[in-house]
Parts: sequence; C-alpha cells; structure tokens
Amino acid sequence: MDHHGAFWSKLAASYDSVIDRQLGGRTRWLLRERLAREAALGRAVEFGCGTGFFTPALAAKAERLLATDVSEGMLQVAKQQVQAPNVTFRVEDCQRTSLPDASVDTAFMSLVIQFTDPPVTLAEMHRILKPGGTLIIGNLDPFALPPLARFRCLVRVLYQGIAGYRLKPPKSFGRNVLAEDQLGSLLAAAGFRVDSAEAVNDTSRASNLPVEYVRATRM
Ligand SMILES: C[S@@+](CC[C@H](N)C(=O)[O-])C[C@H]1O[C@@H](n2cnc3c(N)ncnc32)[C@H](O)[C@@H]1O
Repeated sequence: MDHHGAFWSKLAASYDSVIDRQLGGRTRWLLRERLAREAALGRAVEFGCGTGFFTPALAAKAERLLATDVSEGMLQVAKQQVQAPNVTFRVEDCQRTSLPDASVDTAFMSLVIQFTDPPVTLAEMHRILKPGGTLIIGNLDPFALPPLARFRCLVRVLYQGIAGYRLKPPKSFGRNVLAEDQLGSLLAAAGFRVDSAEAVNDTSRASNLPVEYVRATRM
C-alpha cells in the first residue's frame, strides 16, 4: 500500500490546528493525559509521530524513544517542537520497519493504523516487540457513534480537512478505519492479547469523533 508520505508532508504545517477541528478540540489532549499515566515504557518507538504531539509524553516515560513517521515534513516539524534529550527521529513506514526482531518494549501509534494495511502493520508490531512487550494504539472509531452523529462527524471531518488543507487526499486515503471489535479481532489474529480498550471522548459535542486507547500485550 502507498504510504502517502509526500501528501502528509504538505499537511505538516497546518496539521495540528486542522486535526483538532476535525476530531473535537480536546480529544488528543485527553489521549495524551491517558498516555501520561502509563508506567515505565522501556525502549519505546512511536510510529506516525506526526508533529510530535505525543512525543514528549512518551519520552517522559521511556528509557529511550525512537519517534518515527513516513513523512519527512512531519518529522521536520516534530524535531522543532520536541526538545526531550532521549528522543531520536527517523523515517519509518510502520508496515515494514528497519527495526530488528524483538527489540522494543513499547510501540505506540495514534491515529495512524487507518492509513495502513492493518494486518500488515500489526504483524510488523508483533515482529519488533519483545515477548510481553506493549502495543498502544489510539484508534479512531466513528462506528462508536449513533448513525446521525456519525453522519455529522464524517461531514465535519471532510469539510474541515478540505477547508483546512485545500488538498485533495490520495485515492483510498484513510479507508481502513476499524471499529473496536474489528481491531480486537485483528490484534488477536496477529498474536496479541488485548488488555484494555478505553473510550476517549471529548463530550463537548455529540458528533465528536471517538478514539479508543487500546493496550495489548505481544504474546
Ligand atoms: C493523523 S496523523 C497522526 C499524527 C500523530 N500521531 C497524532 O496523533 O497527532 C497520521 C500520521 O501517520 C503518518 N503515517 C501515515 N502512514 C504511515 C505509515 N505507513 N507509517 C508511518 N507513519 C505513517 C502520517 O505521515 C502522519 O504523520
């Protein structure tokens, strides 16, 4: 699957303001607060770090953090925004990384899996994580909304995306959105045990896009 790195690089400068209008203003903040409650993360890797919104919170809990993205432009913004001394940045496609087998204690990805081929990404996470290692996924889940709210949500996501970026998304962009049970089944099939899936919702508007904070153990 094409990873659309060049497209993401064009969005990098305006990403943070547009994504929060698309999702709901507090959603990523709530996710980051949840992430900050994690215990020690050991050697950690972030995939699709984007502009680095979650990177300092991960770095605060990690021994060492490798923050990665498929987009050079996103990484440039992240490098300017993140000062933590235990972080290194590099380009990686989370579907086929350059990381050795069983080399990572924690892998984190927020709002990324829907842009990939999910079984391929999960198989790669299983390969690079140590047995007993932790995978944390921030999963967009419009299916958790009732039909009318879901419709309003999708209209807003499209409208804010087009108005904010003024770019036509590539074909098949973001098509692999997963409901919580679909993600759970794919995780089990890839050799993970799902430990928890917590709904993270900015409740200021009924049509804000729900995100699940999913923790899974690599078996
Ligand atoms: C919606 S943004 C999420 C950014 C950040 N994680 C956040 O939650 O704000 C999706 C990010 O995933 C990256 N991305 C898309 N496909 C990817 C892939 N196959 N491997 C790694 N990163 C990818 C994009 O470049 C972009 O930075």
